[in-house]
Amino acid sequence: MTKTDTIAELNLDVERLRKDFPILQTKVYGKPLVYFDNAATTQKPLPVLQALEQYYTIYNSNVHRGVHYLSQQATEAYEAARRKIAGFIHAAHEHEIIFTKGTTNSINLVAYSFGRKFIGKGDEVLISAMEHHSNIVPWQLICEEKGATLKVIPINEKGALKMDEFDKLLTEKVKIVAVTYVSNSLGTVNPVEEIIAKAHALDIPVLLDAAQAIQHMPLNVQELDADFIAFSGHKMYGPTGIGILYGKEKWLNAMPPFEGGGDMIKNVTFAKTTYNELPFKFEAGTPDISGAIALGAAVDYIQQTGIHAIQHTEEELIAYAYERLSAVPSLRFIGDAARRAGAISFLVGNIHPFDLGELLDKYSIAVRTGHHCTQPLMEIFNIPGTVRASFSFYNTKAEVDELIKGIEKARRILE
Ligand code: ALA
Repeated sequence: MTKTDTIAELNLDVERLRKDFPILQTKVYGKPLVYFDNAATTQKPLPVLQALEQYYTIYNSNVHRGVHYLSQQATEAYEAARRKIAGFIHAAHEHEIIFTKGTTNSINLVAYSFGRKFIGKGDEVLISAMEHHSNIVPWQLICEEKGATLKVIPINEKGALKMDEFDKLLTEKVKIVAVTYVSNSLGTVNPVEEIIAKAHALDIPVLLDAAQAIQHMPLNVQELDADFIAFSGHKMYGPTGIGILYGKEKWLNAMPPFEGGGDMIKNVTFAKTTYNELPFKFEAGTPDISGAIALGAAVDYIQQTGIHAIQHTEEELIAYAYERLSAVPSLRFIGDAARRAGAISFLVGNIHPFDLGELLDKYSIAVRTGHHCTQPLMEIFNIPGTVRASFSFYNTKAEVDELIKGIEKARRILE
């Protein structure tokens, strides 16, 4: 295979793929929708929508509970989805894949379950300055309960982690390191391989918030060697309300259950309950069956499209967007690290991000404005928030041009 062939293979037929996403044909205020809020949630391709419909119209039934035909079909489809996700992230075992409600729920599971057993008075939990609230607050809660301390890896003015500070903060007092793989606000890709290697040298486990990584780049949990990885279905073309916690078998087996209820038990008496094996120990109650199955369909869709091709296509688009945005007078990037994925955050002159976002909306361009659930990070930059354009492989350079036109029009009105 020549180099040209390889590059040709990596170039997606975006116009064809866009047809898989019915919502991309929507008009907003009479104009074609330009959807640049993919970090908040991605749009859904037809196979995902069809998987939801088929479950409810053909084999809706509860899982792991019935001997009857429909229940067996539902159970098979639910467990097949788990296998697909395990394969997608190269997990060593299917039972290391726990279905949760989403990234927030996955991180809470680890904070409470791991925290209850392994975090004590005087211990430390190490996070970073660019964490989403969902990777701050659960740790604050468990630290408060246990008398532990939350420590924060600082960032530089470009929005990259200060790794020399990380080295100093990583001591034997730290019981877990919990960092984001890709910043939802800045787009920074963190050096997670280095973080994991250094933490493991001191036998400290690492949780990665991969909510903004899983849809943009290949992820091999065995190569990465992270102990826990959390991500959401809806940010990877699946439905809302379903997410994943990947955990290494040795940790998940050592941790107590997070929630009690049906399906997570082996035997219950009023005197004592014994717990089910992995992964069911962490899946109390009826799960989001349709969500899990549709997430499996989303994984199939990503695999068929090709995660390497997705990464390549998005990197080209982001480079184009970055170049075009750089030429806008008075625009400054918030977060300008060397490695970026998914999102670009910026401010224009003295225009308040909400005002710019509202005007862009009137031009049918959807961006997110505000603190993006990273208030401490906004405080570091001393700003109320940013305008964030976040990208998917289905976005086009023509849409980026629309964004630039929209910003220019807004500048004329607001500056
Ligand atoms: N965490 C999501 C975002 O960054 C909602 O927009």
